[in-house]
Amino acid sequence: MRAENMIQKLPYQKPPYIVSNWKMNGTKALLAEVMRFWQPAASHLTWIFCPPATLIGHAKAYFPDIILGGQDCSAEPSGAFTGDISASQLADVGARYVIVGHSEVRLHNNATNADIAAKAKAAQSQGLTPIICIGEPEEVHRSGETLTYLKKQLDESLAGVHGEFLVAYEPIWAIGTGKTATINDIEHVHLFLREHLPKVPLLYGGSVNAANTRAILGVNNVDGILVGGASLKIDEFTQILRAGSAVGRNELP
Ligand code: PGA
Repeated sequence: MRAENMIQKLPYQKPPYIVSNWKMNGTKALLAEVMRFWQPAASHLTWIFCPPATLIGHAKAYFPDIILGGQDCSAEPSGAFTGDISASQLADVGARYVIVGHSEVRLHNNATNADIAAKAKAAQSQGLTPIICIGEPEEVHRSGETLTYLKKQLDESLAGVHGEFLVAYEPIWAIGTGKTATINDIEHVHLFLREHLPKVPLLYGGSVNAANTRAILGVNNVDGILVGGASLKIDEFTQILRAGSAVGRNELP
């Protein structure tokens, strides 16, 4: 991270978003253990916690103040879709947000951009705010075609989606790899996204950790972060929340 890029856009107009995605990890016991550290650290920011769906109702019951999200939802309202979960079911147990179009879901479930748009609309119809993920694979990044790729993904994944939503830019090659996009790359992509989505909160995700949170939140047109692996580590995520909170209070590094 280059020092001159840090916290260059102060003051933050709104508290930054920190979305934590536990993926297929976590138990009730872990939840009880982490919350006493995380809840007090999560001030001056909008923390959206996305545990596995099995934990949402439990988290809501024990920690009613936290904002919860699902990790995916079906585009269908109900029916014979074994293993799937509907937007209304997520809302029923206390979710207010849902991630749609995460690259792992796109890959493992062969979800197309049109499927993602349908999921986003299903989420909104149940009062959930979708967090719509986009991101290019490594070969596209290397070929310099990132913006062209993202434009198509954006157009198709947002087709017919109105109302409230967030967009998370998560380069696939940066997810779970420890290879964060450079500050310049993030700034470049987020400027492009802002031009297309002037009022939509824009998140960055991909190997965010305690050491890079502040620099990433300081990039122009970054309104928040989406954190995977680091959101399962008690100390690391406490530091991430504290860093986000400092940015939310507009404290200079
Ligand atoms: P990571 O995951 O932080 O472990 O790279 C991010 C994500 O999958 O959303």
